[in-house]
Amino acid sequence: MKPSGKSWVKKAKWHAAIEAVKHVKDGFVIGLGSGSTVVYAAEEMGRKVKRGELRIKVVPTSYQSLMLAVDNGIPVTTLDENPILDLTIDGADQIDESLNLIKGMGGALTREKIVASASKELIIIADESKKVGFLGENNHPVPIEILPFALKPAMLKIEELGGKPRLRESHGKVGPVVTDNGNFIVDAYFGVIKNPADLDMRLDSIPGVVETGLFAGMAKIAYLGKQNGVERLDRK
Ligand code: A5P
Repeated sequence: MKPSGKSWVKKAKWHAAIEAVKHVKDGFVIGLGSGSTVVYAAEEMGRKVKRGELRIKVVPTSYQSLMLAVDNGIPVTTLDENPILDLTIDGADQIDESLNLIKGMGGALTREKIVASASKELIIIADESKKVGFLGENNHPVPIEILPFALKPAMLKIEELGGKPRLRESHGKVGPVVTDNGNFIVDAYFGVIKNPADLDMRLDSIPGVVETGLFAGMAKIAYLGKQNGVERLDRK
């Protein structure tokens, strides 16, 4: 349902989600991303499923998105049953003009990247404030999921690559954030990132790094919601 009240951000997220769900066709198997924007896409898909307009299944990317699917009456499946997905709908934390992304402020980056890479198409939904000239602008970090055993040496190697790593602390629990995969998240500050694909490759080669929140060249379309509409960006 379209959010009421004064929050333009909620309305913007809703507009973006509604546009993305228009790409969903009957019979699709869909990757369901995580975060606050995806909530609106799940609600819209759930409504269509309940009305009998869509028979779809989703592969969730986190416990949050699993619960979202269940609560909205959308059947859930796995990558074991469906290793190729028709479409993934997901949010993002930053989006550049080439549709490179920073993701993972919600800690779900690893499953999100696996699901996105298993999809024929990745559609990003976000409010327009997520658009930047270059990733890393405004002192935005790159979330990196790290095996706990490798934490300290991996942080040193991130520093060697020019990053300032900070272990993400939990709210609502003492100690570090533990991901749905049982790992830690380090937020690494690199400043402006001119070549996200190259940095992603270098970070991925650090032993103990499970995955990074740099999604280079993966998204095909991004819908950026505004208060009263939506802007579509296509990867060039
Ligand atoms: C989850 O780990 C993230 O990648 C989210 O997709 C991203 O943080 C976007 O979240 P919002 O839709 O809440 O902005």
